Amino acid sequence: MNSGKTMTTGCHFSHKHILGIEHLSAEHIDHILQTAESFKEISGRSIKKVPTLRGRTIVNLFFEPSTRTRLSFEIAAKRMSADTFNISASTSSATKGETLIDTARNISAMHPDIIIIRHSCSGTPEMLTRYVRASVINAGDGTHEHPSQGLLDMMTVREHKGRLDGLKVTIIGDILHSRVAHSDIIGFTRMGSRVFVYGPATLIPVGLEKLGAVVCGSLEEAVRDADVVMTLRIQKERQSDPLLPTFREYAQNYGVTREVMALARNDALVMHPGPINRGVELMPDVADSSQSVILDQATNGVAVRMALLYLVMGNT
Ligand code: CP
Repeated sequence: MNSGKTMTTGCHFSHKHILGIEHLSAEHIDHILQTAESFKEISGRSIKKVPTLRGRTIVNLFFEPSTRTRLSFEIAAKRMSADTFNISASTSSATKGETLIDTARNISAMHPDIIIIRHSCSGTPEMLTRYVRASVINAGDGTHEHPSQGLLDMMTVREHKGRLDGLKVTIIGDILHSRVAHSDIIGFTRMGSRVFVYGPATLIPVGLEKLGAVVCGSLEEAVRDADVVMTLRIQKERQSDPLLPTFREYAQNYGVTREVMALARNDALVMHPGPINRGVELMPDVADSSQSVILDQATNGVAVRMALLYLVMGNT
C-alpha cells in the first residue's frame, strides 16, 4: 500500500464482494474502519492521489439518483489512481429495453475489476455476482442494505466518541423503507452499541428485534440519554400507498427539534445520511448545530469507500 501508513489489525479480509453488513463480522468491520481511518489523511493532502489502484477499472452503475454515494465512490477511486466510468439508467441502453443481466454481461465482457451498483430492487447486487467476474459493491439496493453508508456512519461515531460499544444509538423515521437503517442496525449492534428505533407504526417493520434493535413506544423513550440521534428521510419514492397523514403532522410528532435533542446526552451527535428534508424529519437549526456531524459523514464516505475498493482488490 502507498498511503504512507500500514495496516495493523492482522485481519485477513476475504470478501470479494460487499453486499451487506450482514455478511461482515465485527472483526471485518473493525478492519474496514481502521483501513478507512488510515486512508483519511490522503484527502487532506495538497496532492490527493496515491498509486494503490493504478491500472484498475471501476464502473459506477447507478439505476437510482445519488449525490453522496456516487460522487464519493468516484472520488475514492480517482484518489487511488483507478480508472472510473459512470453509467446512469437514464443514459444507458436500459431505456431501450435491455435487461439488467444483458447489461451486466456486456459490462463484464469489458473486464472491469469492480462494479458498484445502486438499484431500486433489493438483492440486485447479489444477483449481479452470478453474471460478472468483477467484485461487486452494493451502493444501496431497494430497502435491503446500504453497507458503505453503515460503515461511514460507524466510522463517524467512533471518530467522535472513541468507541462504539455501549453507546445508545437512536434512529428515528422511515425505518421500513430505509436500507441505511437496516445496515446501521446490524452494524452498530454487531459492534456493541444498543440501537433504539422510533417512528410511525406504519413505517416500523416487524422483526426488527431479531436484528437486535429496541422498538420504542415514544420519542422521549427513544431519545432520552442517547449518544447518537440519527434521523431518516421519508422515502416518498418507495411508498405506493400513503403511510402518513401529512408531512406537517409528521414534523410535529417525529421531527427532531432542539427540545427533542435536550432529552439526549449533552454531547450527543446529530446524524443524517442525506438528503435531508429540512423542517420535516430534522429542523434546520439542529441540522446546522455544533452537535451535527452530517458533513463529517460525507467526508468519511470517501475514506470508507477507498478502504472498500482497496480491500476487495485483495489488499489485506
Ligand atoms: N446517503 C446517500 O446514500 O445519499 P445519496 O442518495 O446522495 O447517495
